[in-house]
Amino acid sequence: MKGIVLAGGLGTRLMPLTKITNKHLLPIYNEPMVYYPIKTLINAGINDIMIVTGGNNAGEFLRLLGNGKQFGLKHISYTYQEGEGGIADALSLAEEFADGDKIVVILGDNIIENNIVNQKEAFEKQKEGARIILKKVPHPEHFGVPELDGDKVIRIEEKPKKPKSEYAVIGIYMYDYRVFDVVKTLIPSDRGELEITDVNNYYIKHGLMMYDALDGWWIDAGSSHDNLAMATQLVIKTGANKL
Ligand code: G1P
Repeated sequence: MKGIVLAGGLGTRLMPLTKITNKHLLPIYNEPMVYYPIKTLINAGINDIMIVTGGNNAGEFLRLLGNGKQFGLKHISYTYQEGEGGIADALSLAEEFADGDKIVVILGDNIIENNIVNQKEAFEKQKEGARIILKKVPHPEHFGVPELDGDKVIRIEEKPKKPKSEYAVIGIYMYDYRVFDVVKTLIPSDRGELEITDVNNYYIKHGLMMYDALDGWWIDAGSSHDNLAMATQLVIKTGANKL
């Protein structure tokens, strides 16, 4: 299984911190934000990793991460996203890298207390399709929100005004080979982006989506100044990426 860290975007919600740098390079306590999702993948046993970035500071990722020696990796792959096409557009750049394998995609600002070892192992056993991870949150309207029927997800709505559950779809997604063909069928949303939620709804519609819960805390550190500060507080209090 291969891992893809999506670390592009303009980070406009974190202005002015992101005026001169990419949000994934900002500090969360004692490490740059992008270290955390990389460690989430490595803790799950994924050592073949691609970073998708973009914008004016893309070169800084190479300077910071190199070939991943500080994580015990022999190599890291990189690619560059032109423009602001959204999460699914960024993912499409990893098609050659994935080369037909199953993939775990993680948003570069998603930080977790623990690990995704069980979820990744469950996906290894899953014959085909996709797998998402849900977390109960106080304000689901800020996220992709699943509508649940028993133990099935029947639809995901992106930032709904009236959420149909108390859960957020966190920014860690597992896909089989067909994800890149699904992305090619997408049309841009109202915010002008190819939405990962539309990719997930494709898998749901075709009966190919499974889900797991996440234990421990989860935070999308790059979505607001408050979350950025909160991420540092959480890491100080409990640590992150615990096995
Ligand atoms: C994205 C996804 C959303 C998901 C969230 C998790 O939102 O579109 O479905 O719940 O990441 O961090 P964004 O941060 O792009 O607004």
